[in-house]
Amino acid sequence: MATALYGPGGFYRSAGPGPAAHFRTSVHASPLYARAVAHLLTEVDTVLGTPPALDFVDIGAGRGELLTGVLAALPPATAARVRPYGVERAPRPEGLDARIGWGEEIPGHGLTGLLFANEWLDNVPVDVVETDAEGVARIVLVAPDGSERLGEPVSGADAEWLARWWPLGDGAACSGTGAGAGAEAGGGVGSGRAGAGLRGAAGRRVEPGAVPGRGCGLSRGGGRARVAG
Ligand SMILES: C[S@@+](CC[C@H](N)C(=O)[O-])C[C@H]1O[C@@H](n2cnc3c(N)ncnc32)[C@H](O)[C@@H]1O
Repeated sequence: MATALYGPGGFYRSAGPGPAAHFRTSVHASPLYARAVAHLLTEVDTVLGTPPALDFVDIGAGRGELLTGVLAALPPATAARVRPYGVERAPRPEGLDARIGWGEEIPGHGLTGLLFANEWLDNVPVDVVETDAEGVARIVLVAPDGSERLGEPVSGADAEWLARWWPLGDGAACSGTGAGAGAEAGGGVGSGRAGAGLRGAAGRRVEPGAVPGRGCGLSRGGGRARVAG
């Protein structure tokens, strides 16, 4: 999954208009959003006592759309003091305003201002796991043409995670919903656990909140789960 999203030619790193060409976030939906964030930034500025350099860092900045919009929406006197910076795994977009810094890491100098992120955490890659006919949980491998096959059994930290959060069993915490439904449960970025979901062969929905301590079984022969990679 990490390779598909962030490897060479990966979805988020490929050249061109980037995420905005595939889905809309509030950043792309309306200039009102950038205006609201600019307003927030001016409030932070005031609280900080209008420092000589006001940092505005956007993590997971896409193609810099929000940074560009906020710069345009700020009062000129504030814009003149702002140090806008995009933290992104994709390369710097062509034609980006020269005032905007760009890199893969949060700038090392101390920050005075606003650290912002919009729809970043839902892009932390996870692997998908499916049980085979014998009930062994295996990583799902996806070919460039989209076809899937089962790979190696889940092992190591992923196996421990799966045993803890989605133990193979009779599915006590699962409830029935429409076919094809899936579920996701957030995990901590710090722990490296990005999220988890489980879909039974018949599309059973898992209620993530009910899982800790209860367990929800992967159904034999077709249960699917997403585990952190
Ligand atoms: C769904 S897009 C959101 C883009 C933009 N923030 C928006 O709201 O339209 C998520 C972005 O986060 C970036 N991203 C994911 N993980 C990242 C990381 N560890 N460091 C920097 N950027 C990351 C992706 O490359 C992608 O551009």
